[in-house]
Amino acid sequence: MIIGIGIDIVSISRMKAWIGRVGLLDRYFHPAELAAAREKGTAFEHSLAARFAAKEAFGKALGTGLSGLRLKDIEVVNDRNGKPSIRVYGSARTQLDRVGGAELFVSLTHESDNAIAVVVIEGAR
Ligand SMILES: CC(C)(COP(=O)(O)OP(=O)(O)OC[C@H]1O[C@@H](n2cnc3c(N)ncnc32)[C@H](O)[C@@H]1OP(=O)(O)O)[C@@H](O)C(=O)NCCC(=O)NCCS
Repeated sequence: MIIGIGIDIVSISRMKAWIGRVGLLDRYFHPAELAAAREKGTAFEHSLAARFAAKEAFGKALGTGLSGLRLKDIEVVNDRNGKPSIRVYGSARTQLDRVGGAELFVSLTHESDNAIAVVVIEGAR
């Protein structure tokens, strides 16, 4: 059963502006997300913008937005084919459990100045 769906869009130029601000990336992104994005070279900002959109989309799928969520507790990872998925820790795990979420689905896209993410929360069958 689907419990929630969320969508968000993030401006890549806004993300570029954040990159120069001390401590901001470490506050919003899981260390493994930053490491993976750095490996993408020139796609660094696109990758981070899409991942930030995924965090906001997760909050919308929960129905409570970002309140009560530590953003770096939400990690987007890619499998060997590039397919993204979400791992949750700490505050994000607590919020997911609160709504009875058992599985998460995420889809990302980025083009020109925008990155978009959609997140679906599925409950236990
Ligand atoms: C829900 C939330 C994520 C909205 O994000 P946003 O980027 O400000 O706004 P968006 O334009 O993407 O989305 C707006 C839509 O979200 C939806 N929305 C609002 N509250 C929501 C909630 N609790 N759950 C799900 N969806 C919600 C609404 O449909 C709204 O559009 P509407 O007012 O026309 O109906 C917001 O509650 C939030 O937590 N914002 C915090 C942003 C923040 O702290 N960023 C940190 C770094 S700057």
